[in-house]
Amino acid sequence: MRAQPQQLADVTALEDQCQLATYKKMPIVAERGEGVWLYASDGQKYLDLYGGHAVAGTGHSHPHVVAAIVEQTEKLLFYSNLVYSQVRARAAEKLVSIAPESLTKVFFCNSGTEANENAMRMARLATGRENLITFSGGFHGRTADAISATFLGKYRELGKPNVPGHLQAEFGDVESVEKLADETVAAIMLEPIQSMAGVRTAAPTFFRDLRKICDERGIVLIYDEVQTGVGRTGEWFFAGSEAGGRIVPDVITLAKALGSGIPVGACLVSEKIASHIKENDLGTTFGGGMIAMTAVNATLEAIENDLMLENVKSVEAHLRERITEIPQVMRVRGLGFLLGLEFDDKAAPIHQGLLERKVITGTSSDPKVLRLLPALCLKPAEIDLFIDELKTVIANLSSSRKDAK
Ligand SMILES: Cc1ncc(COP(=O)(O)O)c(C=O)c1O
Repeated sequence: MRAQPQQLADVTALEDQCQLATYKKMPIVAERGEGVWLYASDGQKYLDLYGGHAVAGTGHSHPHVVAAIVEQTEKLLFYSNLVYSQVRARAAEKLVSIAPESLTKVFFCNSGTEANENAMRMARLATGRENLITFSGGFHGRTADAISATFLGKYRELGKPNVPGHLQAEFGDVESVEKLADETVAAIMLEPIQSMAGVRTAAPTFFRDLRKICDERGIVLIYDEVQTGVGRTGEWFFAGSEAGGRIVPDVITLAKALGSGIPVGACLVSEKIASHIKENDLGTTFGGGMIAMTAVNATLEAIENDLMLENVKSVEAHLRERITEIPQVMRVRGLGFLLGLEFDDKAAPIHQGLLERKVITGTSSDPKVLRLLPALCLKPAEIDLFIDELKTVIANLSSSRKDAK
């Protein structure tokens, strides 16, 4: 038997040889993780402010989540929705109990794109209409309907031929919505904070206006909370928050941090929408499986037990205060631990410089914005470390620019 490749060069060569080259990867062989720390096979330790695409909400391998999954693996790995399950019942009840009051039902699936596909289908079934309004800069996934709803960069083009009936409005601009929202429109769907577009936010009045349009014209309001949900903003959901004008949509879609790394997605649905959904209208083999449901239960328990929502709020405030020491940061966009640092120049060299100093951050489609999507357990001392590293990277970049002149 061949030995497992351990060295960076071996692993890189093997993945590059055998895996489709669809991702620009960092030169890290991830081996183990603990909280906000990622350990590589060469012994290097990284401060992870990206959380594997916003997935590690509870931190890497949270002991409560790991223990619950290990215990469940010995009982039953999977059975579909053709049987009842204690862990599924608990996960459904728990999610509904933390959701805004009017969202009373859940549908489980496996990913963010799948949650959005199902949300859009529910809206069409509930209204008998076909068209959907989504927004410039929004990202909703890569399956046919979700990519057709994605008016961000090249994505929609990649999904050609697109699913018909997708209409584009401007994020934050209610007039652009009003013009499109006629009797053919089933739903308005949006990322309430547009993450990939560079952490773009809208005023609370925008959300209130959208709710009003939907109520008056019989349109379903869907929030894609794949990134903002499960505590990332310092609340369980953006829906119902002060930043969102206390508005609650008819459907919330979730994925990413919901299973702490075990693939799971969900749609939280109002009673009114649920009343239109019948047996066999939606389905997916793996949705609601026992391992995924155990991961959901343990994730929500860990967030509660460790007071992570409170932590997000206080540590966000600490970051906002400390970042004022860096004049090159023009603005901090976003909320909680979905933050975009807007620089006075390109963010890519800063992202690269931080990586060389063992700090993982994210870029976005806005070239000046560096994204932070850390675990909800990030501590002030780790922010302090980040600030020190950021200062060093910026100082190095400006001295190398001077040298080049
Ligand atoms: C806001 C949003 N919606 C949907 C998706 C798609 O989720 P998934 O990759 O799990 O299909 C993503 C993924 O990045 C996302 O950020």
